[in-house]
Amino acid sequence: MDRRNFLKITGIGGITMAVLPSTITGSLYADDGRLFEVYEKVQLINADGEALKASSLKKEVNYVFNYPFVGTPAILLDLGVVTHQKVKLFSEDGEEYIWKGGVGTQRSIVAYSAICSHQLAHPTPEDSFLQYLQRGKTTMACEQKGGLIICSSHLSAFNPLKGCEKVAGPAEQPLASIIIEVAEDDTLWASAVLGADKFHEYFKRYKLEMKKFYGGKRKAKKLVKEHVVTVTLNEYTKEIIQY
Ligand code: FES
Repeated sequence: MDRRNFLKITGIGGITMAVLPSTITGSLYADDGRLFEVYEKVQLINADGEALKASSLKKEVNYVFNYPFVGTPAILLDLGVVTHQKVKLFSEDGEEYIWKGGVGTQRSIVAYSAICSHQLAHPTPEDSFLQYLQRGKTTMACEQKGGLIICSSHLSAFNPLKGCEKVAGPAEQPLASIIIEVAEDDTLWASAVLGADKFHEYFKRYKLEMKKFYGGKRKAKKLVKEHVVTVTLNEYTKEIIQY
């Protein structure tokens, strides 16, 4: 499989595998409220069609999968350290919501919509202006050395340990959080979105891109179902732009 084209076939069939959502016993780390929306529960798999295991994630490496729609990218991270818990966050409209923290044995696994809450920069198979920057690495966005998701389009920085609370830059709200569950067998599942997302504006603005990468807006707007291919950002995109 050409890994850069994997998103075209993500989540809409093509790979046969056992999916048993009823065996999931993990907790759903999300809060109820207007800024919480349940979508299809889908299993994260690798490019070979095998279940992605939480314990196999490399620490501080950007993984990309599309959720909740075929054309909306998200970033999955094992941050390697315990995240904060029950973080109070606000949308740009002032609406409050609670991000309950990471999952996994170390509570270090998180996922966020990779569509910037400022002006919608996002990873594509051609390039990415938005990604997690490892601890210790410098950025022009702020003085903090890494451990942040940076959008190099206008230098917004978000803290993934705290629900992607904004740290610097023009963004006015956190990145929306993708709710991830770790099942007893170590498999990973996505099931909901918490926070104010930008999906509507994104689909409206990037019509040509939807055509180029997903075969049209209608196809890009389909819900991901059953499983979704997840690869590293390096595999997904040709060029990572990081300032
Ligand atoms: S689009 Fe991300 S900072 Fe402007």
